[in-house]
Amino acid sequence: MFITTNSNLVEVERVFIFVFTFTFFFFFSQIKSFCNVQVRRFPFENYPAHVKKLKTYAFKPTLINLVLNEFGVIYYGDASIRFMKPLFELLPESVGHHGFLGQIRCFDPKVSSRSKYGCHHDYHLTKNEMYAKIGVKKTEYYNSHFASPALSGGLMLLVNSTTLQTKIMKPWLRCAFDLACIAPTRSSLRNHRFDQSALSLIIFKNMRNEWTLENDPTPRHDAVVKVVRGRKGYNWHPKSCS
Ligand SMILES: *[C@@H]1O[C@H](CO)[C@@H](O)[C@H](O)[C@H]1NC(C)=O
Repeated sequence: MFITTNSNLVEVERVFIFVFTFTFFFFFSQIKSFCNVQVRRFPFENYPAHVKKLKTYAFKPTLINLVLNEFGVIYYGDASIRFMKPLFELLPESVGHHGFLGQIRCFDPKVSSRSKYGCHHDYHLTKNEMYAKIGVKKTEYYNSHFASPALSGGLMLLVNSTTLQTKIMKPWLRCAFDLACIAPTRSSLRNHRFDQSALSLIIFKNMRNEWTLENDPTPRHDAVVKVVRGRKGYNWHPKSCS
């Protein structure tokens, strides 16, 4: 798991790359030599033991919180995220929403994933234990007409604010640190989306109707970053700084 960037790296003040496994494109020593890049070890020892188990995905809210609390802002991107334009362009999108900009996959679990407004909604990918732990009624989540946004856990901008801290980060971390919430028994990617399921439930619970079909910032978000898996379209040739 690491953050990759393409030609816009120079526009980013500092990029942190947390290397958990091996890196796909570069050697560790190469990454350390890139300009404006710092590689840090993830301090697993400071957190509950299951955070080390990467398949619980508890590391994700944890690392987002870590960077947010040090710098006041983080753009988190999975390894599949390519920056097509400077990230600055996303800042205005977070301003009117307490500092949060996610990527909303769809707004209603009842709408078929084959239709324009549908997706494979987190409603279908969240274990019952997580609903109970976070405190969302499953039927209400299902029946809230176009008011249950399913967010992507792979890309998001967070700019620190009191609301962001209390309505998103605190409950998200509380769930991440509780194994029975983030990764209930018998959860797998076939029936559960871990950090992503939690984020969608928390947004539904604490920030309902903050984002709607009418004000959805996702198209503008998608104009700045692109999800690309593997080497396809990969064209970043970072410079080394010594
Ligand atoms: C983030 O916001 C909280 C709540 O307003 C504040 O207490 C904290 O100092 C802020 N941290 C940073 C790094 O900006």
